[in-house]
Amino acid sequence: MKQYGRVAQLRTASAFRDYLSTSRVPLEFDDEVQSGPDSSLAQSYVLGDRTIGNRFAVLPMEGWDGDAEGRPTELTTRRWQRFGLSGAKLIFGGEAAAVRQDCRANPNGLVLTRDTQKDMAALLATLVRAHEDHFDSSDDLLVGLQLSHAGRFRRPHEKTKPEPQVLYRHPLLDGIVGVNSDAPVLTDDEIARTVDDFVAAAVLARDIGFSFVDVKHCHGYLGHEMLSAVNRPGCYGGTFENRTRFLREVVAGIRSEAPGLEIGVRVSAFDFVPFKAGKDQVGEPAAFEGDVYPYAFGGDGSGVGIDLSEPLAFMDTLSALGIRLVCITGGCGYYNYHIIRPCLIASKGSYLPPEEPLLGVARLINVASELKRLRPDLCYTVSGLSYLQEWLPNVAQNLVRMGHADFVGLGRMALSYPEMAADVLAGRPLQRERICRGCSRCTTAPRHGLVSGCYLTDRFYRDRPEYEQVERLVRS
Ligand SMILES: Cc1cc2nc3c(=O)[nH]c(=O)nc-3n(C[C@H](O)[C@H](O)[C@H](O)COP(=O)(O)O)c2cc1C
Repeated sequence: MKQYGRVAQLRTASAFRDYLSTSRVPLEFDDEVQSGPDSSLAQSYVLGDRTIGNRFAVLPMEGWDGDAEGRPTELTTRRWQRFGLSGAKLIFGGEAAAVRQDCRANPNGLVLTRDTQKDMAALLATLVRAHEDHFDSSDDLLVGLQLSHAGRFRRPHEKTKPEPQVLYRHPLLDGIVGVNSDAPVLTDDEIARTVDDFVAAAVLARDIGFSFVDVKHCHGYLGHEMLSAVNRPGCYGGTFENRTRFLREVVAGIRSEAPGLEIGVRVSAFDFVPFKAGKDQVGEPAAFEGDVYPYAFGGDGSGVGIDLSEPLAFMDTLSALGIRLVCITGGCGYYNYHIIRPCLIASKGSYLPPEEPLLGVARLINVASELKRLRPDLCYTVSGLSYLQEWLPNVAQNLVRMGHADFVGLGRMALSYPEMAADVLAGRPLQRERICRGCSRCTTAPRHGLVSGCYLTDRFYRDRPEYEQVERLVRS
């Protein structure tokens, strides 16, 4: 089985460059990271009539720790507080908030409805207050909420009970989530009602004080599945026009019911076939029938390649809708985790990494950069950088300095070491012991019904009762 190098051991720029070169990873970085107000990452960004204070973003990161009604708990509040004190000036969604109780991905997911509105307002206030306590002002802080319907990966009632709602019968994914009849296929009317739920949630988000909503189109959830519904009959399937109808209807509803609310979209701009454990448990692509795999949005038909024609058309659709805020991610954590969150060690129970994880990082970055190059008017946040570890700031600076991305997103790093952004901007040395190492404890825990957090570096989670269980899982 192939062993990959440890990024933490690549202590100099030349060692990192040599490793990238030997491993054939196409990734650029700056040898030195600047700090202070003139540095690339400290530059503000003007989005319409708002100014965003620097180029760090926090990506949506859920914790599987809401209460039964979808309200935030103390754990959720602590996470959002840390997002606020991170120093990042763009909060791209906080975490997935379901637009109805029954479209959650897990029974502890957040929900935004009239019943939870007050608690969600308090959550937002905590984040903003934490930011104000640590930095000059929150005037240049832009906070959005990710609105979501888990679709095929719906588990609203029991952690162990998938209750998928799908857009089409999928030859490979149906087996993974237990779809064996047409009953879970949503009708056009049900989709139209879901559009109303997204709009209603957006109105609540605006009333609470969120500056934007992210109409989630990633990671296999409903919005993302829309984009690959190539064989679905009716007005939400088939042509590209039909597959983006859901987005257009949600946006039209928000514009009419919540004028002034900014809209963003997080999109899986490419996808692969599902991967499964093969020889020595190493991930390999699932076999599919026929010569062309049509269900990967942004795929080239081979199941493991990329064709950006449709993602570019999607960017054009966003532009035509007056949307500039876009966050680029890829794939789906449930069936090809290595293309969305590259890591050295897989979650317990999953396949082992099929490639050098830095290749996964480079793929995500290079897709975002290519979209930025070809459709430069949108405002791009790039995802999947945490595995860069010590080198995250160097790559991030290069991306922004070269104009390859507008914002660099922090996902897992925002759990282990949220202040990385503040430390970089202030020119303080990195706190090495807090750097995310891609150990996957944050995904192993929820896969086994436990709350998520950084069980490796965050004392708070090391002291929690779940810690021993997570350690037993990773060592078994
Ligand atoms: C514990 C955990 C929770 C996540 N929650 C969400 C979420 O609520 N919404 C979403 O779009 N992505 C979610 N993601 C994906 C991350 O936002 C991000 O795309 C991924 O971790 C890769 O970025 P990174 O390398 O900085 O971690 C989650 C990932 C993890 C590990």
